Amino acid sequence: MTQEQEIARRRTFAIISHPDAGKTTLTEKLLLFGGAIQTAGAVKSNKIKKTATSDFMEIEKQRGISVSTSVMAFEYGGKRINILDTPGHKDFAEDTYRTLTAVDSVILVVDSVKGVEEQTQKLMDVCRMRNTPVMIFVNKLDREGQDPFDLMEEIEEKLSIHVAPLSWPISKGSSFRGVYNLHQKELNIFTPHKTAKSEAGIKINDVFADEILNYVKDDLVVKLRDDIKLLESVFEPFDAELYRDGLLAPLFFGSAINTFGVQELLDTFLEIAPPPGARQAEERVVNAIEKPFTGFVFKIHANLDPNHRDRIAFVRVCSGEFERNKFYYHTRLKKNVRYANPTTFLANEKKLIENAYPGDVVGLFDTGNFKIGDTLSEGEDLHFKGIPSFSPEIFKELENKDPMKSKQLEKGIRQLTEEGVAQLFIQQPGSRKIVGTVGDLQFEVIQFRITNEYGAKCSFSPLNFHKALWVTSENKKALEDFLQRKAQVIAYDIHERPVFFADTEWSLNATKEYFKEIQFHTSSEFDAK
Ligand code: G4P
Repeated sequence: MTQEQEIARRRTFAIISHPDAGKTTLTEKLLLFGGAIQTAGAVKSNKIKKTATSDFMEIEKQRGISVSTSVMAFEYGGKRINILDTPGHKDFAEDTYRTLTAVDSVILVVDSVKGVEEQTQKLMDVCRMRNTPVMIFVNKLDREGQDPFDLMEEIEEKLSIHVAPLSWPISKGSSFRGVYNLHQKELNIFTPHKTAKSEAGIKINDVFADEILNYVKDDLVVKLRDDIKLLESVFEPFDAELYRDGLLAPLFFGSAINTFGVQELLDTFLEIAPPPGARQAEERVVNAIEKPFTGFVFKIHANLDPNHRDRIAFVRVCSGEFERNKFYYHTRLKKNVRYANPTTFLANEKKLIENAYPGDVVGLFDTGNFKIGDTLSEGEDLHFKGIPSFSPEIFKELENKDPMKSKQLEKGIRQLTEEGVAQLFIQQPGSRKIVGTVGDLQFEVIQFRITNEYGAKCSFSPLNFHKALWVTSENKKALEDFLQRKAQVIAYDIHERPVFFADTEWSLNATKEYFKEIQFHTSSEFDAK
């Protein structure tokens, strides 16, 4: 197969949702269709169970499992599918943000009972930054959920995206009868099953003709016809280009646990979702079809076993062909590196690979050469954009509890933040270290790993900050003046960019009002839309 053909048949995406909406169940069902697993329940999710929130060893064990489920590759309908898994637990949201930079599209799962939840809104903001195409699966139609029109309105409003229903539910909960596929003009009768049984739809070109009455009760047909009339008056016909531009989200209804609506989703996804495309590097746009290999690290997974200090760096291939045992150029370290044991991930097993193409994810064993965001090339000085940091939500000061081990602590906290466990900000004078995270769990993880892996000791004292914002200004003098006047609440990130700490939203607004020449950014990717 040529490189062009390899690219054209790849679909690399992530499934995102608020915890408990059904992401793991849907992932598993997609794997069943792909034949990558044989029975439901075969994939242990990397979802960190609620019960484990205070037991981080349990979490780390689960994170261990998640290495093999971080990327799930399988073949279906002649396509090579790469699903990049994202942690369900909200404390690991940063991991999810980074994974979203490595995909070409996203499937978003919404719980029909709960509707759009907070975490989904944040994830959608990240998708919007890169115009990532989004397809939506409204799940749990077997339960008494919200009215589908209300749900669509809520999705459009809260997620700021236009939706296009491609299927439409016929009732819900105990009277759920199935869906009418508006795109294929087919009726799919709800039959709960656990396996990947093919759901052959019943061709019904016109819901206003009598034929549908053979399958659906009168009152439900009346309602369906009314709904469809309304839909046709409100929605434009579906435009796949708008979807690929990230402006329109096709919407499906189903029930993942009952494997209902899943094949419909998968088949449409394969038909319209984009293959790997061009990617923006700082220097230029890199096209997937270019011959030289390029790729970037979007995730690093540490091995917690102190006897095996290696880590796995996950590299998304952006262009060319990655080959085992070939030297590639590490553009930050400006040196050539070679990998003898690159791995790929097939369902829940790791496999050595000889080569990989754009859209694929390669796992490289690393002894500390990689930071998140690093680029590999065949010699060109390239730096892929787009591994943004977002303002953490919890801030604590790192305290050294064993002065004899300062060096180890310094090394440990730097490496852990390079892995993306947390964000580190240094305040001068005195090199005060402020650690920022999305959740409390990371502090436990850091403390444990600093002791276990680096032999140092630390503790954390809470800081009363509300948000960290990267600051820039066109006026150099104004920026210097600002940094000096606000020195007490300024620190520098690991790339030495100045960051302002606000203690309340009110004081942030007041500061913005006063220092008009300063721009405040909630993400480290300043030029993002
Ligand atoms: P997540 O990864 O998004 O966190 O969600 P997950 O798939 O684990 O699903 C969360 C819960 O919702 C699970 O129940 C799962 O069985 C259930 N679920 C998923 N899809 C459907 C659906 O279509 N209908 C209904 N009624 N439930 C669904 P649980 O009790 O939390 O876990 P489990 O004991 O079933 O594993």
